[in-house]
Amino acid sequence: MTEMIRVTGGARLFGQVEVSGAKNACLPIMAATLLASGTHQIQRVPALTDVDILGQILKQLGCDFSHVHDQELIKIQVPDSLHLIISQQLAAMMRASVVLLGPLLTRFGHCMLPFPGGDAIGVRPIGEHIRALRALGASIEEESHCLVAQARKRLRGTRVRFDITTVTGTENLIMAAVLAQGETEICHAAREPEIVDLCEALRHMGALIEGEGTDTIRIQGRDSLKPMDYRVMPDRIEAGTLAVAVAMTQGSICLQHACAAHMGATLDVLVRAGVQIKEQAEGLQVTCEQALKPVQISTAPYPGLATDMQAQLMAMTTFIQGVSTIEETIYENRFGHVKELQKMGAHIHTTGRLATIQGVSTLHGASVVATDLRASACLILAGLVAQGQTHITGIHHLDRGYARLEHKLASLGAQIQRLS
Ligand code: EPZ
Repeated sequence: MTEMIRVTGGARLFGQVEVSGAKNACLPIMAATLLASGTHQIQRVPALTDVDILGQILKQLGCDFSHVHDQELIKIQVPDSLHLIISQQLAAMMRASVVLLGPLLTRFGHCMLPFPGGDAIGVRPIGEHIRALRALGASIEEESHCLVAQARKRLRGTRVRFDITTVTGTENLIMAAVLAQGETEICHAAREPEIVDLCEALRHMGALIEGEGTDTIRIQGRDSLKPMDYRVMPDRIEAGTLAVAVAMTQGSICLQHACAAHMGATLDVLVRAGVQIKEQAEGLQVTCEQALKPVQISTAPYPGLATDMQAQLMAMTTFIQGVSTIEETIYENRFGHVKELQKMGAHIHTTGRLATIQGVSTLHGASVVATDLRASACLILAGLVAQGQTHITGIHHLDRGYARLEHKLASLGAQIQRLS
């Protein structure tokens, strides 16, 4: 069944909308449940296909998994022993399957992990993950289509320095270290808020961790952990995406539960472009009542501007009078949305990782294809301001990372429908 999203441009967005739980926090937190037998409960988990796929993998491993979508609540019952086979087909459907490596290795001493998949935005190697886990004593062989990881005896803590800042690499090492013998010190750790959220969830399980959110994290290994009952942080990328929608449509919305502290770099760009942001008790009030100004942005590891916001911000720059530039420093191939925006009349020139955008007065509706998760959000945003109708296919990408985005936008006044 081919689904598409149809957007009719021109509506301004007003009202309030709830920000869902963070995809890139709940996925590693779900993997962390493997570190302790018993029944775990995780709240504020959005209905995403990546969550469903990871849930299926956990079930294949021998866990019970249930997701009450309308309560954004999942329950995972982890038995004392698992059968450690992960399906190639499921693991290849997303990147987050890679974070099963640390928990399975440290608790069960064995993991055969098919190579992860995910957005086609770059090569996305996992050499840093492998090097870090080997430092704790694991033996990891790369076979034709999977990793075979073994820990013949308990992993031992040590000092590990990452050469490259890696979010899931840091997460894998943290989850391996919490049950290792002795202390692990992680240097050049990634600092993303999703890593801080994972550490908070692990602390709810009895883990001894300090320094998360900085580039040095220290972990004292424990002999065992207990099940968690945890509420996931709000999704800073969904909140950022909705804030860009307000900027583009000259509206005003309240992003309920949005956490400004996690969104610093994105909010700085929006304020520079002319958006007003006001922190309130229930969330962030985002308002735009003036023509936007061009911006010069460059993605970077946290606390820099999230690469996951690059495509959405590019949609915004396409009709800002003047010249904006966007440099994508994290991934070598994350401009898949450029040619689709050009079909809508955008004037974008790319050389390598740098895009130069000459603002046009209007975009026009077109039939476009989403190439990856954030590109699908970018094209929806462009459709909100384009003249006429925009039809977007490839929206299975959208459902990986956004729960009912079209419903949220429609509730704010957008003319948007999902058609099959
Ligand atoms: C996480 O991916 C996120 N995914 C990505 O979000 C996000 O874009 C990325 O972090 C950067 O913030 C999840 O958390 C599930 P990295 P991850 O390892 O951990 C290179 C989205 O849209 N690298 O921090 O896979 C890598 O190729 C997704 O929600 C190595 O070279 O990203 C990339 O260029 C997309 N060797 C850079 O580092 C390694 O061993 C950052 O990758 C590991 C990474």
